[in-house]
Formats: sequence, structure tokens, C-alpha cells
Amino acid sequence: MKVFVTRVISEEGRKLMIDAGIEVEEWKEKRALSREELIAHTRDCDALLSVSTRLDKNFLLASRHLKVIALHSVGYDNVDVEAATAVKIPIGNTPGVLSGATADTAFLLMLATSRKAFYMHKSIAKGEWDFFDPTANLGIELRGKTLGVFGLGKIGLEMAKCCIGAFGMQVIYHNRNRNEIAEKELNASWVSFDELLEQSDVLTVHTALTPETRGKFDWSAFNKMKPSSIFINTARGAIHNEQDLLRALVEKKIWGAGLDVTNPEPMHPDHPLLNMPNVSVLPHIGSATEETRMAMSVLAARNIIAGLKGERIPFVVNPDVYK
Ligand code: 8YV
Repeated sequence: MKVFVTRVISEEGRKLMIDAGIEVEEWKEKRALSREELIAHTRDCDALLSVSTRLDKNFLLASRHLKVIALHSVGYDNVDVEAATAVKIPIGNTPGVLSGATADTAFLLMLATSRKAFYMHKSIAKGEWDFFDPTANLGIELRGKTLGVFGLGKIGLEMAKCCIGAFGMQVIYHNRNRNEIAEKELNASWVSFDELLEQSDVLTVHTALTPETRGKFDWSAFNKMKPSSIFINTARGAIHNEQDLLRALVEKKIWGAGLDVTNPEPMHPDHPLLNMPNVSVLPHIGSATEETRMAMSVLAARNIIAGLKGERIPFVVNPDVYK
């Protein structure tokens, strides 16, 4: 049995597959594969371990021989899941193991934005640390403020716990369905989307990218937010409209923004958001810790091993394939 892996992943996951008798071929080049290259490399493979690679309908139709596709991510918006189900390929993801690291990144962006930390760091490097002005460089405090979570699932829950523990923040959230466990554990209140926009001091996005959430944070949404509010997105860049976000910051409809995800990725180095004092941007590093990337490689490997044994994969995105 042979698996093709679209990036070099942590040793632990690779070792697990090799120990299970699977031949592992990794794409080692520092550039993404084209669809044609991907089809060619997976042609003689039984499984695919896919890291940050678009798997569209054409690829899936050309690769119906694959017994399993394991994603090295919790998100599966870059896969045509319907097409995979139609050709009976189980798709696996890596839920749970990256919730803490991703929430930490959201918390980091919130705090860094509230004190303009990334901008200050850059300004020292530019030689701009001169005389002391008591009215300059002012941030805003977070103690006792309201945290609004858009998509209160595993990652949102971890972020809310950090904000309650550190700053005693009140938690409101908007989900399609109520999260009763979070309501009990965090004393969180469900609010409508408009109420979330109107009441949040910090609004943090933790939902999946779906047709329903794509472009959800647009000009009309930012317009309903408090002028003193901070917008944080560590989920997917396409959930916010970047031009509208920029305009909302320039026109002071909101106070600041922290992004781990942009649209497109990578963000252009000349993007005006990168030069704004109240904006912090990171290059999609939410899950990038030694521990989390190791755990993700292990879950992905477990999905591959089970799939190649003909067993039900442990973390399946499209359970309908087993019907
Ligand atoms: C990384 C992520 O983008 O899990 C996700 O959905 O966004 C991240 O962990 C990446 O996919 C890691 O492979």
C-alpha cells in the first residue's frame, strides 16, 4: 500500500504509517503541486494525505481509485466533499487537537491588537522611538469587556475560556444551533447575528467556511459594530471581505483587527492593513506549534491506516460514504 503526502509533515505521523507497512511518498518541493501533478503522483497510490491542497471535482473524478483521503487540517472547505462522497472516497480531518493552539493565536491577536504591539515593534525598528508623549501609543483595555464568538465550537470555547480567565470577559455567541454545554460552562448567552455585531467589544470568528459564512463580515456587518470594537479572524479569510474591513478601519467604524487568515493567502506585502497601528496580521499559523502539528500528523496517519485496512476511518467528514 502506498500513500502520497503533499507536504513534508511531522515525523510522528510519517513513522506511524511506515510502521504500519505503508510506503510513504512525500512532495518535498517548496511549491504547491498543480492539479495535473497531483493526479500524476497519486495515480499509483492507494491513499492521499493532503496538506493545504485544493481537491476539486476534476481531481476526485480522476482519482476514484483512492481508498482514503486524509486532510492535515480540521477545515475541509478546500475539498469538494460531495464529489468525494459520490466516488465513495472517505475524507478524514483532524478535529480537536488544534483547538488550544488556534485559540491561543486568537487571544494573541486580540491582545496584540488592543495594544498596537506589532506596529510598535515595527516602529522601534524604523528608529521611531523618540520622546515620551503621554497621549501617544494608547491602546484599549480588555478587562470586563464583552467577547462575541461567531461559531462557538471547540476552538471558540477555548478562546472564550482564555478571555474569561485572563480578563473576566462576558461571553455572547452566535451559532446556527445553541451550544448548551458552553452556555452552562461559560455562562455564555446566545444572541442574534445583529446583536453579536452591536454588543461585542471583541468579535472573534471561529466558524467553518461554508456558503452561509462566506463574506459574512462585509461593510454592512462592520457598520453595525461598535467604533471601539476589535475584529479577530483565525478561521478563514473568505469569511470577511478584506476591502470592507479596510474601509471600516479607515472610517473608524471599528477600532482594530487581528487576522491569522487573509483573502487571498499569502497577503500581498504592500497591503495597507499591514501598515495600520491597530491591525495585527499573522501568516495562518493558528495550529503551528510543535505539539499540535505532531498531533495533526498522527490523526491524519490514523485516518490513512484505517482507510487502507478497509476500516471506518476514525475522523470522517463524509460519513455518508459508509451508508
Ligand atoms: C492549517 C487549518 O491551515 O486545520 C485547519 O483547518 O487551517 C490549519 O491547521 C493547515 O491546514 C495545516 O495543514
